[in-house]
Amino acid sequence: MDKNNLLFYNEYEQFYDMAGRSKAFEAFCADAFGQDLSQDGFSDIKQIDRILKYVPKGSDIHILDIGCGNGKMLGYLQKRTGAWIHGFDYSQHAIAAAGSLFPDRSDFRHGCIGGIDYKEEQFDLAVSMDTMYFAPDMEELVRQIMKWLKKGGVLFVGYQEGDVMPKTGDVNTTVLAKAFERCGIRYEAEDITRETYELLIKKRLAALKHQNEFEEEGNRQWFDLLMLQTECVSEPYELFERKMSRYIYVVRKEA
Ligand SMILES: C[S@@+](CC[C@H](N)C(=O)[O-])C[C@H]1O[C@@H](n2cnc3c(N)ncnc32)[C@H](O)[C@@H]1O
Repeated sequence: MDKNNLLFYNEYEQFYDMAGRSKAFEAFCADAFGQDLSQDGFSDIKQIDRILKYVPKGSDIHILDIGCGNGKMLGYLQKRTGAWIHGFDYSQHAIAAAGSLFPDRSDFRHGCIGGIDYKEEQFDLAVSMDTMYFAPDMEELVRQIMKWLKKGGVLFVGYQEGDVMPKTGDVNTTVLAKAFERCGIRYEAEDITRETYELLIKKRLAALKHQNEFEEEGNRQWFDLLMLQTECVSEPYELFERKMSRYIYVVRKEA
């Protein structure tokens, strides 16, 4: 893994180091997202609960999270469904935390997109929230995930535009949608931009609520970052949606 060529590598190491120690961040996440899953993005509990319906019933169900961070989202899905949980992330801090927080029925690997592989047809469900855009080759990653999924398995993606990725026209014009198209994969997509605007307002209010705790911990820089990330909601929704969109994509591998 050549850390120098990985986008935001150092920033994510610092982020997960902070997330593992900061009580202010835990409290912020609980208020902003409805549950502290150390989110660095746009996935509140309402979005994450949408995943549950794609987890089949059974005692030997396997879920993969691409860009799993410290594993808290997988831990939540395991608690709700009893599934085995698997995840990978390029952050060493994150993967060390995931392994110690969720040691049972789990497999956490340190590695980057493109540098990690799994056996064919291993997973019932693959999830990736706000991470697929870090793929050096989106089409290649899509093909890999489809290989890793069991027949009938599902890929669930949370995908933001106007943040890491530039905003395109609509749900069918994103880099991810184009990659699905080139791979001949049919997808369902939902536009949740309005919901995301509301979430960003909640994030901003939650950051302000916990500002003093961030400062007392010496974590003022993270408070400042949260304010910067949510500045976009000082504009009305009509202006926001010209610059940002959020979509959920669901793909089912043919049985
Ligand atoms: C925006 S965060 C999303 C984290 C988490 N899924 C969430 O929704 O809060 C992106 C995640 O992808 C990881 N990441 C970024 N680039 C990566 C890469 N090239 N390979 C593996 N992981 C990567 C980061 O460490 C981080 O955990």
